[in-house]
Amino acid sequence: THVVTENCINCKYTDCVEVCPVDCFHQGPNFLVIDAESCIDCTLCVAECPVNAIFPEDDVPAGQEKFLAINAELAPLWPVIDKKIPALPDAEAWDGVPDKLPLLER
Ligand code: F3S
Repeated sequence: THVVTENCINCKYTDCVEVCPVDCFHQGPNFLVIDAESCIDCTLCVAECPVNAIFPEDDVPAGQEKFLAINAELAPLWPVIDKKIPALPDAEAWDGVPDKLPLLER
């Protein structure tokens, strides 16, 4: 599977959902996750994310490993999103800000 990592938090551009052939993205208030049960590792979403937040599960950046469990935990709880919506208002300012995990809204 692929996983959404920390840099999506407070950005939530949603370009990723437009290319997913299996509708595996689920959305929360300020973050998206991928449903591992649905993801077919097509890799199409990786290049679409403007803030490079999506990685294959075996190539997640050091320090981001906890996002495997976070995607697994939240995908069953959040609704599917398959259409792009406007990014969060301060998305540009949040790109690359470190340690955003405490800001994740559930
Ligand atoms: Fe998040 Fe990037 Fe998708 S910011 S919503 S993973 S396009």
